[in-house]
Amino acid sequence: MQENNGRSTWGSRLGFILASAGSAVGLGAIWKFPYMAGSNGGSAFILPYIVLTVLIGFVLLFIEMSIGREARAGSGQAFGRLVNKRWNCVGLLSVLTGFLILAFYQVIGGWCLNYMFDACMGHGLITDTSKLGEYFGQFVSNGAMSITMQLSFLALTAGVLIFGVQKGIERVSKILMPLLFVMMVVLIVRGLMLDGAWKGVEFMFKFDASAFTSGSLLNALGFSFFSLSLASGAMMNYGSYLGDDVSMPRSVAWISFLAVMAALLGGLMIMPAVFAFGLDPSAGPGLTFVTMPAVFAQLPMGQLLAVIFYACLVVAALTSAISIMEMSVQYLIDRFGMSRTGSITWNTVLLVLLGIPCALSFGSMSDVLFFGKTFFDILDYMTSNIGMPIGGLAIAIVGGYLAWPAMRKQLHMNETVPAWLESFVKISIKFISPAVIVVIALAGLLG
Ligand code: TRP
Repeated sequence: MQENNGRSTWGSRLGFILASAGSAVGLGAIWKFPYMAGSNGGSAFILPYIVLTVLIGFVLLFIEMSIGREARAGSGQAFGRLVNKRWNCVGLLSVLTGFLILAFYQVIGGWCLNYMFDACMGHGLITDTSKLGEYFGQFVSNGAMSITMQLSFLALTAGVLIFGVQKGIERVSKILMPLLFVMMVVLIVRGLMLDGAWKGVEFMFKFDASAFTSGSLLNALGFSFFSLSLASGAMMNYGSYLGDDVSMPRSVAWISFLAVMAALLGGLMIMPAVFAFGLDPSAGPGLTFVTMPAVFAQLPMGQLLAVIFYACLVVAALTSAISIMEMSVQYLIDRFGMSRTGSITWNTVLLVLLGIPCALSFGSMSDVLFFGKTFFDILDYMTSNIGMPIGGLAIAIVGGYLAWPAMRKQLHMNETVPAWLESFVKISIKFISPAVIVVIALAGLLG
């Protein structure tokens, strides 16, 4: 790949695709998708999710990454370079959004790490889901434990970043992403072999018109954005590391495909087993931590399978956390001329400070409320309901209107793109995406 004005570059196209898929495939695919699907009527959530990802998510991801590559900058500077300096404040908001996502994401990363260690030790493999629920409650409210785990997760993330883009992020993604895939397939095959597993598959894919509601549609759309890591700076930054000799639309098609596949595999890893044991698919966020241990407790070699399952979660969460932290690390380097190590140190310190109240939101700080929400919930709310919609809208306006010729150039670079595809991208980014983002944002703020 070519030089990038002293900026880091990917070593290969495959490295770029796997690192970006690593960002997209995270707790979203394995933790959030199964429970969202479970509580939104299965296929009534999954089918719209796939359609919306193809129609809107793919195009927005292409535009976000193209803005990064065109400007050769992350979201802190990219809008400014392509439009004018005033736009940098919108970009800064995206940087902040990504950073705040990581502040609470690391807490859940820590939970996954804890459950992986527990599984290794053979703890917590019992069938009584109310006891499992109690255990989960005790763990998350134990400040010392959850902070230790969260800091370990953050240390892992920062540890990869120290080695840089090619030797750190790219190398780790090339190992972990195929490993994740293999581990997921092992669990799916095992789950499908259970009696009654097919009911779980039917629940995911059987078309049931009556289950469609506007709520499930909106949730599907919000999840599509979340699952592609859109509008939080990370993907723009990854795009800015890509050499001009690689086709952007083709790479983005791969990344989106891998993200959708991972979510479907995440669902297939959980739903068939949950149905086979007659457990509740709509258990909500506790599905992974409360319902699944009961599944493993009843399976032969359940402990090994549990270790593999929680390792999947750790791997998925880690590669996503890496992409967000890399974005904010690169931001301080670009903005203040810091060294990489200096920037990693600053980011780590700030993430520790913000992460601790997030972890304590489930324990000693659970009654410290801001606008009726805990610290964890307020960060989640602000990033998904304010930061991401504004960032997404900015991407659509800049890409669709203010810098459309540059986006068109990115579309055709190293690729013979048929005319229909260009028209599709153009209509989606100019009209459909902004309209849809406004609708989700309003629904999120009012609902
Ligand atoms: N896509 C991630 C997941 O599925 C979550 C996420 C949202 C994210 N925005 C992001 C990850 C920005 C990295 C960067 O878990």
